[in-house]
Amino acid sequence: MSEQTKTIAIEVLRYRPEQDAEPVLQTFQVPFTDDMSVLQGLQYIKDYLDGSLSFRWSCRMAICGSCGMMIDGKPKLSCKTFLREYYPGGLRVEALAHFPIERDLVVSVDDFVGKLESIKPYIIPKEPRTLEQGEYLQTPAQLEQFEQFSSCINCMLCYAACPQYGLDPKFIGPGVLALLHRYNADSRDGARAERMQIVNAEEGVWSCTAVGYCSEVCPKHVDPANAVNQNKVNSAKDYFLRFLAPKGAGT
Ligand code: FES
Repeated sequence: MSEQTKTIAIEVLRYRPEQDAEPVLQTFQVPFTDDMSVLQGLQYIKDYLDGSLSFRWSCRMAICGSCGMMIDGKPKLSCKTFLREYYPGGLRVEALAHFPIERDLVVSVDDFVGKLESIKPYIIPKEPRTLEQGEYLQTPAQLEQFEQFSSCINCMLCYAACPQYGLDPKFIGPGVLALLHRYNADSRDGARAERMQIVNAEEGVWSCTAVGYCSEVCPKHVDPANAVNQNKVNSAKDYFLRFLAPKGAGT
């Protein structure tokens, strides 16, 4: 450590199922420099203070989406958040809100992954092409329709920010609705009608109460609230089109 090293108190919510009946807070004094992220602070704890501390991470550069946690009560990527922002007061780090804690800062992602799989997050070609026919071409304007939503890194911060998901875990949620829209808005895709059944369902887009905090916390500026709003428009269009063209409307 350089002479610029300071020390900050990191309060961590611990839950070790073999010894804790419920989560408990534990404070660590961590030496840091201004270039250290919260994730690096946790890594210092694991390397030098308590090797049993558990948390997820991989890329350390806001790409993999695995290091999401509550930092002073806000959903953030710990690799993109710096300890200096909390000096000299210290910070509290907790598992991502609204998800069951498996151990310390590690939460179960089963619910999110199940919802993600349900929307078929891949292109189902409208008109299948052979290799000989070449690639699927798209204009810049067609790309613009979905590009923003393809930046989602599945970090689940928007779920931790969503009060509706906190109240009703059956709600499909902002991130999955953004990814659903990413594929439905793609000119190459032909599975819109199938995915709209999820949008229109009881726990679909109309469960959203339009708080908008999901977009505030999104580290990639995906703006899931915008995707939710576009899904609401599409859902309403489908509803009214049913009266005009009962067969195959909205497909
Ligand atoms: Fe990959 Fe933070 S470690 S997003």
